[in-house]
Amino acid sequence: MTAPVSPAETLRVALAGLLDGLPTKAAAQAVERLIVNYRGTTPTDAPILRDRADVAAYAAYRMPATFEAVRAALDAFADVVPEWTPGGHVDVGGGTGAATWAVNATWPEERPVTVLDWAEPALALGRELASRNPLLKSAEWHRSRIGAALTIESTDLVTVSYVLGELTEQARTEVVDAAATAAQAVVIIEPGTPDGYTRVIEARDRLVGAGFHIAAPCPHSAACPIVPGKDWCHFSARVSRSSLHRQVKGGSLAYEDEKFSYVAATRFPVTPAASRVVRRPQIRKGQVLLDLCETEEQLRRSTVTKRHGLLYKAARDADWGDAWPPPSSAPDEGESSDT
Ligand SMILES: C[S@@+](CC[C@H](N)C(=O)[O-])C[C@H]1O[C@@H](n2cnc3c(N)ncnc32)[C@H](O)[C@@H]1O
Repeated sequence: MTAPVSPAETLRVALAGLLDGLPTKAAAQAVERLIVNYRGTTPTDAPILRDRADVAAYAAYRMPATFEAVRAALDAFADVVPEWTPGGHVDVGGGTGAATWAVNATWPEERPVTVLDWAEPALALGRELASRNPLLKSAEWHRSRIGAALTIESTDLVTVSYVLGELTEQARTEVVDAAATAAQAVVIIEPGTPDGYTRVIEARDRLVGAGFHIAAPCPHSAACPIVPGKDWCHFSARVSRSSLHRQVKGGSLAYEDEKFSYVAATRFPVTPAASRVVRRPQIRKGQVLLDLCETEEQLRRSTVTKRHGLLYKAARDADWGDAWPPPSSAPDEGESSDT
């Protein structure tokens, strides 16, 4: 029996097929054009993704990364709500549908899925890609502009991934409010930059104001303990590089790390992680240094040493973004120590 193909692999093959027949140089030029456009003034009055070449370039170049970032955020969220599965999903500013593939990877069932975006070529390509995934075949792709007139049909899960940065301040509040009105759970993902984090925090505040509970990454729904301008909360997802990536970026690395910031919030009560690892753990001889965001609304460095037994083993396996401590690793003796 052959092993079932994962959504990530199906997506990779579908994306590779997109560039078939397109000379690599032309594909690389389309990506360069897109990068220049994205560096220009956003928000824009009209879609940046204007035609098939733009969206094919976006999908081939960026979609693997946004897919992995959204999947990492959703996996962390799913760990906090193990009994919950979204019965329906609306992806706002969904573009070519990266978040629909990520939802499918985290909760692999068929469900009503709607993707909203103002760029018709992105929707068309998203539809084409989704036709390769049996669980996404029936997804609906609708043209819709984020703004005061945006309405989102009632659903379990709304995702807004890599979109807030393209919107005016007003449109950002409008999309978050519309998501909060429509959904049981809202997941917002942005690039893991200081600006992306700031937009996530604004959205987080708005969701809490609307009565939502923060499920991930934060261990609480109180204010973020990070001092604005001093640091920013972000995480990292590993992305396999395609040959197009290697051509545009140069070098021969087989992967790159996509940095992202996110918030997952629910209308229903949740018990978030006791703390979360907010930096890459530092492994030293006989000890692991963990930077944690904690329930007590503070950041703390914890040093886990060999004498902590099982907890030390778990710390060596801990990854940036993980909940801490993992459920099965109660300390053997004493607690981990602050530094
Ligand atoms: C960077 S892409 C992200 C696409 C997708 N969510 C992902 O994670 O790969 C931003 C998307 O937001 C859409 N968008 C930007 N402004 C919009 C607006 N005012 N109304 C609707 N869609 C918008 C763009 O067309 C584009 O598809």
